[in-house]
Amino acid sequence: MKLSLPILLGLASTALARWAEADGKEIQYSTVEGYFLQDEPDTNSDTFDYAAQNFRLLNRTYPTDHNFDPRGSKTQWERFARWVDYLNARCRRSESVRYKLLVMGRHGQGWHNAAESFYGTPAWNCYWAELDGNGTAVWADALLTAQGVQEAQKANAYFKTRFEQHGMPFFESYYSSPLSRCLQTANTTFAAGIDLPASRPFAPTIKELFRESISIHTCDRRSTKTHIHDFVPNFAFERGFTEDDELWRGDCGQGETDAHQLARAKAALDEVFASDDGTWLSVTSHSGMIGSLLTALGHRDFGLSTGQIIPVLVRAEAVAKPPPPTTTAAGFTSEATCEAPPVTSVATGCVCSTATPLMAMRL
Ligand SMILES: *[C@@H]1O[C@H](CO)[C@@H](O)[C@H](O)[C@H]1NC(C)=O
Ligand SMILES: *[C@@H]1O[C@H](CO)[C@@H](O)[C@H](O)[C@H]1NC(C)=O
Ligand SMILES: *[C@@H]1O[C@H](CO)[C@@H](O)[C@H](O)[C@H]1NC(C)=O
Repeated sequence: MKLSLPILLGLASTALARWAEADGKEIQYSTVEGYFLQDEPDTNSDTFDYAAQNFRLLNRTYPTDHNFDPRGSKTQWERFARWVDYLNARCRRSESVRYKLLVMGRHGQGWHNAAESFYGTPAWNCYWAELDGNGTAVWADALLTAQGVQEAQKANAYFKTRFEQHGMPFFESYYSSPLSRCLQTANTTFAAGIDLPASRPFAPTIKELFRESISIHTCDRRSTKTHIHDFVPNFAFERGFTEDDELWRGDCGQGETDAHQLARAKAALDEVFASDDGTWLSVTSHSGMIGSLLTALGHRDFGLSTGQIIPVLVRAEAVAKPPPPTTTAAGFTSEATCEAPPVTSVATGCVCSTATPLMAMRL
């Protein structure tokens, strides 16, 4: 069975329409380039570290500097924040355009990442990832490894210096994927050690649509709402968040298609932009999902290793809705797996050591 896009998106759409001009409209996104080094085509994401220099906010002037900072005493972040506020100021723009800074962080290393390195990607994809663990490590809804905790602690220390010494604006909202590795990363990064003002507390919202690509791997299956609440009682749930994971279909051998994931990324952005009038937003998510969010935002591809963070200045414009598409892309599709560790995996599937791939038996 295939789940069509409108079914998933219809289920997930719970946002309050606080951006009145976007009500009933299509929201178009673009990345505003020229502010961060990550936007530039020749920046190599493989060797990139956000902490090497100020989240890679470019050293530059803004048209608002002249009035805001005549003596040249403000920081780069303070001057950038003033410019973004100016872009958003009601008297300067049409109500149909909004700017936000999305600071998207990938979770620190989880047990599933460690296991993929340990077994190698073919054996991981075609066998081990479909199990809950191996007896010594659990990777179903994986927690962070010691390295992953350290990566989140590094982010905590780095945000602290940006906020307290470099005038980076405090976030107005925090969002996280419902998967444990992101909840733990967001919590370790922001819940303690940083002196946040009372007006901008760490009061995160768990959003279903920010979860990772929904593959047949058990690391993509989330825990129940009750379990998540016990794990991070300081996090709120978005409206409509269900007790059980209603999206994961690994037990039926089915995973989400790329088209579905991209549509989900767009839907997540639409919900946030329509319901949240803040400008400075933090999102803790995953490599695959941040990849889809970057695509939906018109940003260049930018791979993030565990614990890495990317800021994107986003311009959103509410425009007339285009006619609905006449064809519907498949939402979920069968993914290959084996009953035992495979010989290898190839682009089209798994080369199992036993004669019969498990999927073929199930279908
Ligand atoms: C930006 O300016 C700071 C302080 O002057 C300097 O340390 C840093 O290297 C500069 N960064 C870039 C990318 O030019
Ligand atoms: C289980 O996987 C972990 C990696 O996540 C590895 O460190 C450990 O050695 C594995 N245990 C066994 C019994 O192979
Ligand atoms: C969240 O952070 C608080 C404050 O540091 C801490 O007491 C709690 O154990 C953390 N929970 C998780 C799951 O990281």
